[in-house]
Amino acid sequence: MKSIVVVGSQWGDEGKGKVTDYLAQVADVVVRSQGGNNAGHTILFDNQKFALRSIPSGIFNPQIKNVMANGMVINPKQMLEELDGLIARGITNFQLFVSNRAHIVLPYHEALDGAFEQFKGDKKIGTTKRGIGPAYADKANRIGIRIGDFVNPHVFKEVLAETLNIKNMELKMLGLPQFSFAEIYNEYTEYAKRIAPYVCDTSLLLEAELKKGSKVLFEGAQGVMLCLDHGTYPYVTSSSPTGASVPLNCGIAPSYIQDVLGICKAYTTRVGEGPFPTELHNDLADYIREKGHEYGTVTQRPRRVGYLDCVALNYARRISGINHLAIMLFDVLTGIEKLKICYAYELDGQVINTIPATNYDYSRVKPLYIELDGWQEDITKVTTFAELPANAQKYLRTIEELTGVKIALLSIGPDRKQTIQLEELF
Ligand code: GDP
Ligand code: IMO
Ligand code: MG
Repeated sequence: MKSIVVVGSQWGDEGKGKVTDYLAQVADVVVRSQGGNNAGHTILFDNQKFALRSIPSGIFNPQIKNVMANGMVINPKQMLEELDGLIARGITNFQLFVSNRAHIVLPYHEALDGAFEQFKGDKKIGTTKRGIGPAYADKANRIGIRIGDFVNPHVFKEVLAETLNIKNMELKMLGLPQFSFAEIYNEYTEYAKRIAPYVCDTSLLLEAELKKGSKVLFEGAQGVMLCLDHGTYPYVTSSSPTGASVPLNCGIAPSYIQDVLGICKAYTTRVGEGPFPTELHNDLADYIREKGHEYGTVTQRPRRVGYLDCVALNYARRISGINHLAIMLFDVLTGIEKLKICYAYELDGQVINTIPATNYDYSRVKPLYIELDGWQEDITKVTTFAELPANAQKYLRTIEELTGVKIALLSIGPDRKQTIQLEELF
């Protein structure tokens, strides 16, 4: 068996979807382990572009099993819309399995997400307003609804009645409109009927696959810097997108995790609020944003843009056990005269190499940079490392030196074909 965890090593949107789809050509199983439709994973092949939200990025390969694991929070309505969208585009031959222990996202979660953001005003997180935080909060508060209960109409009736009772009290206290039991129940039992055929104990499925020697790819959503525990709290998502979270979120033994592939843009982006030391507010940021189409897949918000931050990358490496790197959107850096990579921060006159725990400190760090010469040549059709301009090679080698991790994949365009494999993975 062989397992690889695809982990976002920055603030999300690093290109995890592209890499998962690329490696899914040779995998046996692809597993989405956490998050929900706050994710937007873009995939391009044969002149077709797809933006997946909750469905795993292995869905285009009919040979492989796609698993939505217990760590996810699944919006049934959105999931079915996504599935119908795929089917309408001819993706009809797929294998999909949904964990009976995953939680569901209901309309009151979305309403509460929006309301909390509004209450927070200036201090808002900048969430995707997809109800992710409130759904995970209900899970922790033991008033969530799991897929296994959802697809049994009798059990769903009971748990929805109990939960909605509490949620409506909460909504009332907050001065927000309440939800009708009958409306949710009638609408969502129809969704449950359609989801039921995909539901199973995915922990059993995964162990059986791993035991028989399958190649299993775990597709992370978000990124380590958005981790609930290790990210820039509270400007984070409500799950853990780290390599360490995969066994828990999938119901497998930690010893099954072998390799962790850290997905990293050649620069940095962030959507939503929170500290971002290498952020740029100049023409270069605009150039990168336009060239890299840096607008959110889910919310269309312009992404904040900055230089590559190897302190954050090293932090993600340490927290997640990243032992291979995939450098993405490398083509976007073509045409920039001087490039910078942050190798350390300065805080109160001290050089530091890690992420401070408090935003009070993190928002005060000053990035220290290595400056490198850029390149002008088009690299979007290059197929080997040797063909890259010398300065482009130098940029990549600098990342390897600063992290001590080899680059296994290099992405020089959004298409599946624009991928250079430098190290063996599967
Ligand atoms: P994910 O959430 O990590 O899957 O990443 P997103 O799909 O949200 O964002 C990555 C964006 O970069 C998408 O629009 C991809 O199509 C695009 N992309 C991925 N790799 C490359 C690349 O090497 N070059 C360019 N120009 N775009 C890329
Ligand atoms: P993928 O998988 C980038 C960000 C939001 C916000 C914070 C909390 O496509 O990389 P949430 O809705 O999760 O409560 O929002 O996290 N965020 C993402 N940013 N990519 C994502 O997913 C994200 N998922 C959540 O913008 O700052
Ligand atoms: Mg994304």
